[in-house]
Amino acid sequence: MLGGSPVKASRRYLSVCLLVSSAAASHTAVAETALERGAYLVEGIANCGNCHAPQAPSGAEPLTPLSGGPAIPTPAFTAYPPNITPDRQAGIGSWTEDQLVAAMRGGRTPDGRMLRPPMPVPFYRSISDADAHAIAAYVLSRPPVAGKSPPSQFKFPAPASYGPPVGHVAAPPHENQVAYGAYLGSMGHCMLCHTPVGPDGQRDYAHRLGAGGLVMEGVFNRVVTANITPDKETGIGTWTDADISRALTTGERPDGRRLSSPMPVAYLARLTPEDLAALIAWLRSLPPIANRVEH
Ligand code: HEC
Ligand code: HEC
Repeated sequence: MLGGSPVKASRRYLSVCLLVSSAAASHTAVAETALERGAYLVEGIANCGNCHAPQAPSGAEPLTPLSGGPAIPTPAFTAYPPNITPDRQAGIGSWTEDQLVAAMRGGRTPDGRMLRPPMPVPFYRSISDADAHAIAAYVLSRPPVAGKSPPSQFKFPAPASYGPPVGHVAAPPHENQVAYGAYLGSMGHCMLCHTPVGPDGQRDYAHRLGAGGLVMEGVFNRVVTANITPDKETGIGTWTDADISRALTTGERPDGRRLSSPMPVAYLARLTPEDLAALIAWLRSLPPIANRVEH
């Protein structure tokens, strides 16, 4: 679904990236345990807590227990992201690491339920085996927290499947900066929020990827997502890398306005400089789409 188009880049551009990222690759090769990697991903780009942690209107903070998040109301459902701490009664304390990996990437729980949106299963499918296990090991290593979340209410049935079973997923391509940025962008499920829904109520990833304009409501009140394609008039095409970096990691736009939750700024602030650069290279490679968003 997100394959293909984001990874379009000229051959010349790619060869420049290859030179630049060989230095980055040797840096990321520094030994890191699975739990350290899991902490980096969960409290960073994967931002599980942006939905699964309690939060104030200003947003969720990394390191807040994943004990269940506030309601996400939409016309089609009111979802309560559940307690995913390892509490045996209220959370997922009876799940194994493999079962958590299967739920994240395939959407199926150990008791056979299919997870429903906005749990970003379609975006998490591409998480590599090593990263998925690192995430699951870290989530299951956190302290258990009691307290069950209210049941979610949906006006449509759960999906029958999210596609063929996820088998082996290889490690992301560190040597190709745009492709590695696309891998991070999928884990960050940027396009879940930044792609508008079409007349059929589905997000139009084929024609409107990143065009913004999705209206979101929740503890943060009403907010409209931005056009993050490189369109020069209506997107971020005229922003410098430093502008984008500042917006993603501090929430400050070039005009000084501060970005509202649920944009996961506190999480993206924890990205390494190499990962941030890859994410930005990927954003710049997206097809520009003209779509003026009124905030
Ligand atoms: C955009 C919001 C969002 C994000 C981000 C998110 N989730 Fe979820 N998650 C949900 C919602 C909503 C549900 C409930 C779905 C349902 O009721 O079918 C859910 C359900 C789950 C469940 C099922 C728990 C149960 O007992 O049924 C697990 C496990 C889970 N998420 C793990 C994760 C992990 C791990 C991450 C980060 C890697 C994550 N989620 C990120 C929204 C999110
Ligand atoms: C849970 C929803 C959500 C997710 C996930 C999300 N964003 Fe956002 N983003 C928003 C919202 C909402 C805004 C607008 C906030 C405002 O206007 O105050 C925004 C604003 C932005 C902006 C500012 C653009 C402008 O013109 O103001 C950028 C850049 C951006 N997001 C990039 C990203 C990237 C890259 C990712 C993935 C790593 C991402 N976002 C993930 C909801 C999200």
